[in-house]
Amino acid sequence: MKFQAFVALWLAAAVASATDPAAIYHPGWIDLNKDGLKDVYEDPGRPVDRRVNDLLQRMTLDEKIGQLWQVDLPHTLDPQVIARVRDGEVGSFLGSDATVETPIMRNQLQHVAIEQSRLGIPQIFGHDVIHGFRTIFPIPLGQACAWEPELFEQTATVAAREAAAAGIDWTFAPMVDLARDPRWGRIAEGFGEDPWLGALDGAACVRGFQGPDVAATNRVAACVKHFAGYGAAEGGRDYNTTEISEFTLRNFYLPQFKAGVDAGALTIMSSFNCLSGFPASANRHILTDILRNEWKFRGLVVSDYESVGELVDHGVAADETQAARLALTAGEDMEMISQTYHDTLKRQVQHGIIPLAVVNEAVRHILTVKFEKGLFDRPYTDEARYPDAYLHADARALSREAAAKSCVLLKDENEALPLSPRAGKIALIGPLAQRAGELVGPWHSRAHTNELISLADALRRQAGPDFEITVARGCALYEPGVLKVPRDITNYLPLNEDPTDAHEIEQAVALAKTADVVVLALGEPLDWSGEDGSRSDLGLPGMQPQLFDAIAATGKPVVVVLFNGRPLAIPQLQQKAAAILEAWFPGTEGANGVADVLFGKVSPSGRLTTTFPRSVGQVPFYYNHFNTGRPGFGEYKGNYVDIPTVPLYPFGFGLDYTTFDFGSAQVDTNRVSLTGALTVQAQIKNSGKRAGTAVAQLYIRALAAAAGPRPVRELKGFQKLPLQPGESRLVTFHLSARELGYYDPQGRWLVEPGQYQVWISKDSASGEAAAFALGK
Ligand code: NOJ
Repeated sequence: MKFQAFVALWLAAAVASATDPAAIYHPGWIDLNKDGLKDVYEDPGRPVDRRVNDLLQRMTLDEKIGQLWQVDLPHTLDPQVIARVRDGEVGSFLGSDATVETPIMRNQLQHVAIEQSRLGIPQIFGHDVIHGFRTIFPIPLGQACAWEPELFEQTATVAAREAAAAGIDWTFAPMVDLARDPRWGRIAEGFGEDPWLGALDGAACVRGFQGPDVAATNRVAACVKHFAGYGAAEGGRDYNTTEISEFTLRNFYLPQFKAGVDAGALTIMSSFNCLSGFPASANRHILTDILRNEWKFRGLVVSDYESVGELVDHGVAADETQAARLALTAGEDMEMISQTYHDTLKRQVQHGIIPLAVVNEAVRHILTVKFEKGLFDRPYTDEARYPDAYLHADARALSREAAAKSCVLLKDENEALPLSPRAGKIALIGPLAQRAGELVGPWHSRAHTNELISLADALRRQAGPDFEITVARGCALYEPGVLKVPRDITNYLPLNEDPTDAHEIEQAVALAKTADVVVLALGEPLDWSGEDGSRSDLGLPGMQPQLFDAIAATGKPVVVVLFNGRPLAIPQLQQKAAAILEAWFPGTEGANGVADVLFGKVSPSGRLTTTFPRSVGQVPFYYNHFNTGRPGFGEYKGNYVDIPTVPLYPFGFGLDYTTFDFGSAQVDTNRVSLTGALTVQAQIKNSGKRAGTAVAQLYIRALAAAAGPRPVRELKGFQKLPLQPGESRLVTFHLSARELGYYDPQGRWLVEPGQYQVWISKDSASGEAAAFALGK
């Protein structure tokens, strides 16, 4: 803005301020840079906080309130949207729709914002880029099984590059919600049940999305969500109430958020749930006391979709006026979609019900993010980049690599896997054998069906002349009559799934009998996990269990490949299958990655980050639980009378095509001072015939933690060790006393003297503990 124009505006604004008691204008804003042309907020050479202050004091109350509202990107640029942007009524767009795939409309809107709105404040465009944009990577729960945070950094980097080319500035990811209940469909979007590993994965995603310079044109602002406790939904039902003690909140549900903040995430999204007595969307304790005051978070907090308006449904606000007041004063800066701020804040500020300073603070956070993202200095996105930005060779290769690394081998008997030419005739059966579209899972952003590859195609391509592959569906993926009919990925119409034909299973059995080995591709429809994808049952849907039983009864070796978004309760598969490969929803090149593992080009090195229960009745079920006063087995020990209390597959579990022997853990000292450190070592040997990767897991347990119990095991480290057959390595972990601590309910990190146990083991349920004492 030029100086003369600015003076005119200042006069106009001064007049307006006389009628708008909440608008504040200070003469001090005339702060020109050295060439006397740019206003301070327009000058890229000035520090962000100066620019924010300068802009803030020029804004009318209406313009400020406009910044606090995020609306859906429309299908077309209608005059109403243009007017809203021009008049400064909105601050951000959410591209939940396919229009965001091209940057054209985004740029058109941005032109209106920059050139026609009074102060030229840019819009920020957000979108859910959860595990890839056009090139899809395995669902986060799958990628977490790679035990390789760098993998998240790489996949998020590619996702950011593709999304940014479509004009997206901001992704609503990573989702770092701890989840202990596989009924909850959103378990697919997170990293599992361990806060320590989840914190590493979440921080890696933030680094990947934002890069070293978030303002770069190939980066997007990250949003750590959903703050907080969303994953503990009662009954596993999405959006449901959560009750979490402060102690458990601090030690299990919050560390991943803290790690995201420390990694520099520009934004946080609050969660839908009522958290321990008050909805998170207006929960001052978490949004202000913890996030702002304790963690010093400077970025913006956005609500979840309509969740501010939903405060009325929660029954804590009588109407939208009260909802807006509760949310804003609690620390909710930007309201997504519902319009309680838009409709009521002005009146509330003018009547002194909400202090202007509260509005200013929220606007400050939003402007800070817009400046940090470089939107004032480079508001438009390069439309020429868009057509060639997707599915580059490196992106596809990474999708394939990530898919293979996410695979967890749950069972392998008599070397059923890898498939060897000995098993020349393969019958590939199952409802997911030929379905490429399903393999991208929930939140597949802008995946296109025709860019995906099915398991059948991948196996045929990779099999070579030694194999003969025949294919049958066997049964439907689900049977009609269920409440949630799955949707097709591209046009989001109900998926046409023919019910299982009366003779279909018989025909599949006949095919199986002609084969040397059966590969059974089973699992869930892609949107039976993800948002609103909760299930009450953890078995395979529809007739799949019957199909499995019938095929297993042929006596042929059955290799089950599972494509799903959550841990399943599959004891029947564990009993009768020759091999089980958990492949999750593996993404665009997922089928190729899975085929790499099936044929043994890549050995499976994934390890579970969620417990697999035997039955849905065991959930919530997680390895890092507190001991009861009556642990063990026998009378009055609190076990189930009908099933074992132990899981089907514990946290950390996963096999390889080779075997590993873990020696017992050795500590370098049996007494560590409160400022000291411990070295723990174990010898690990590849005792099998193939090369493979051991994942050495370091767990501890504190036996006398006076401020509150510690879990029976707690992950504190891991190392992936590629080992040749016969090779042996000494794995070494260094653990400082500080890392042995935990949070008290006030958020103080305590390191307690006392006895500890430590393991280096293959998973959370095996190994022998070494002991040491902490303290003088
Ligand atoms: C609701 C979901 O809970 C959230 O994760 C998502 O980012 C928003 N919708 C926007 O799509």
